Amino acid sequence: MTDHRIALIPGDGIGTEVLPPARQVLDAVGRRHGFGFSYTSYDDWSCERYLREGAMMPEDGLDQLRDKDAILLGAVGYPGVPDHVSLWGLLIPIRRGFRQYVNLRPIRVFEGIDSPVRGATAGAVDFVVVRENVEGEYSEIGGRLNRGFPEEMAVQEAVFTRAGVTRLLDYAFDLAERRGGRLTSATKSNGIVHTMPFWDELVAERGAAHPRVVWEQEHVDALAAKFVLDPARFDVVVASNLFGDILSDLAAAVAGSVGVAPAANLNPERTHPSMFEPVHGSAPDIAGRGIANPLGAISSAAMMLDHLGHPEAARDVTDAIAAILAGTDLRTPDLGGTASTAEFTDKLLELL
Ligand code: NAD
Ligand code: IPM
Ligand code: MN
Repeated sequence: MTDHRIALIPGDGIGTEVLPPARQVLDAVGRRHGFGFSYTSYDDWSCERYLREGAMMPEDGLDQLRDKDAILLGAVGYPGVPDHVSLWGLLIPIRRGFRQYVNLRPIRVFEGIDSPVRGATAGAVDFVVVRENVEGEYSEIGGRLNRGFPEEMAVQEAVFTRAGVTRLLDYAFDLAERRGGRLTSATKSNGIVHTMPFWDELVAERGAAHPRVVWEQEHVDALAAKFVLDPARFDVVVASNLFGDILSDLAAAVAGSVGVAPAANLNPERTHPSMFEPVHGSAPDIAGRGIANPLGAISSAAMMLDHLGHPEAARDVTDAIAAILAGTDLRTPDLGGTASTAEFTDKLLELL
């Protein structure tokens, strides 16, 4: 029986409420398929720790994670600690330090879910946002000048490297070849004069190297509208770090709620552990009430199963989710129901 070494980082807010369900689901499918997990929990890597000790994680935090097969994370960030401090103190260093340059965010509308978007029905909407995850608009270059003076200003550089964009595009084009053969690139080269024309050039270059993929580019503003007006037309959507961030919350809403969307922060070369986490955040507005939708975290755990070489187990999880949504009224409040996190999870465990 293989034991996979998994780091669990619940984080803050509902991160701590959706991670235990994901772990229960992993244990259940593992038992069924004959493999197990040895977990290491990093329960205090959180904003509380920051307030107490001045750091979100210990100085050797990345070293503690390095030998794990994968990382499962809830969400980080909570009122009381500025978001850029908490996120640059934990989540972003893991993504960057472990070269998790692909952030894979699949979106599918399940049968039984009422999408707020007309015509967004099960089967019709099934696409994936491939988000650049370590450079782009998320860079440390820049600064605040003239603090406290009327001339105060902030300058923030975006960094797009040929190597960084190319490896991400190759991942996205390869994925399109394995899926429906279509790719849409999110650009803004009409307004952003240096980085986005460069992005477009590289997309054309990698597109030429993947002749079986039919690709197009859309300005990200227009693309956002098309996500709502015609979500069924998309297969693989490739985007920069910031554009992919925004588009993936929008896509999650098309699928019914930001609470249902999973994500995989992948280090495709597998020289470092990859990290799996829901798209959503710590949701302070509903934290502590036991009503968070666990589907984003559970589906992220399913993506982790896939990554660890257990596609059948991953499918069992998504099939069980689909069966509950199609066959029962059980839903958390974000999806219009009254079920608690625990009630939904228990039903899922029953099926598994
Ligand atoms: P959020 O995703 O936490 O919440 C947005 C809205 O969606 C809220 O109304 C919330 O109640 C709802 N929501 C989110 N997840 C839900 C779930 N599972 N079930 C039901 N409803 C859900 O985004 P935010 O408000 O922008 O951020 C809150 C905090 O989380 C901030 O500190 C932010 O920086 C952080 N954050 C962390 C991550 C991460 O760690 N990966 C991701 C996004 C935001
Ligand atoms: C996400 C989050 C993070 C991001 C924030 C919290 C830094 O929104 O994972 O989507 O922008 O990457
Ligand atoms: Mn986001």
